[in-house]
Amino acid sequence: MSAFHFTSLAHLTDLHIRHPGETAYRRVDTAAYLRKSVDMVQGLAPRPDAVVITGNLTDFGQDEAYAHLAELLAPLTMPFYLLPGSHDSREAMRRGFPAHTHLGDGPFIQYAVDVGELRLIAVDSCTPGESHGSLCQRRLRWLSDELDACEDRPVILALHHPPFQTYVNVVDKPSLLQGAEELEALVELHPNIQRILSGHLHQAVTTLVGGAIAMTAPAPAQSMRLDSDDNRLAQWEVKPPALLVHTFPGTGRMVSHTVSSARL
Ligand SMILES: [Fe+2]
Repeated sequence: MSAFHFTSLAHLTDLHIRHPGETAYRRVDTAAYLRKSVDMVQGLAPRPDAVVITGNLTDFGQDEAYAHLAELLAPLTMPFYLLPGSHDSREAMRRGFPAHTHLGDGPFIQYAVDVGELRLIAVDSCTPGESHGSLCQRRLRWLSDELDACEDRPVILALHHPPFQTYVNVVDKPSLLQGAEELEALVELHPNIQRILSGHLHQAVTTLVGGAIAMTAPAPAQSMRLDSDDNRLAQWEVKPPALLVHTFPGTGRMVSHTVSSARL
């Protein structure tokens, strides 16, 4: 056993799971890529204390896809925490994971849980029927209260939509996250926020938001190519599955690793 105590959180996103046997874009077997990602998490040493998955759990939000997702995540031996993304259905997500009582039954799926020494605060950034995200006053007030309640703890915020301009125009163009400025103002008031974790982009991107490090995780399967051209559709490519691991040593700095399954 290690002489040091770490709290470690694995971060996956944008799984886009479909019915069993169905592929995305008729060729990307998102279930097979997720299986590899789950194996990667289980093979990490030390094994993460928990996993957070920042939305787009399924491609079209059907019950069958959530049932398939539950099967694919079943080998995880640590708690996993799900957020809704722009492709998800809050109601079907709750039906698919009835034991996840923290998903609640309100208009949004947002909750705060302990992961070792960390406080993980999951914020619902979805706008039903739209690709872009939003944080209304109700969600921001809830977040403000949660942050006020754990000012002495290291905090990780998680939400599907990145709260910053990504310079990938197919993501930025419909609209940046509405409420991002208010979110940033809240983050500035809480320097104990160690990371702001998002997805949506299918790429690993890092920046600062309100003085905190904000990161998007790569997706297990299809990646969006970095492309700032206003006039082109999204360019997709398939890379080896990758995920982030955020490790907090108790004192000192949190370190974030990008882990890929590519092997020689
Ligand atoms: Fe996605």
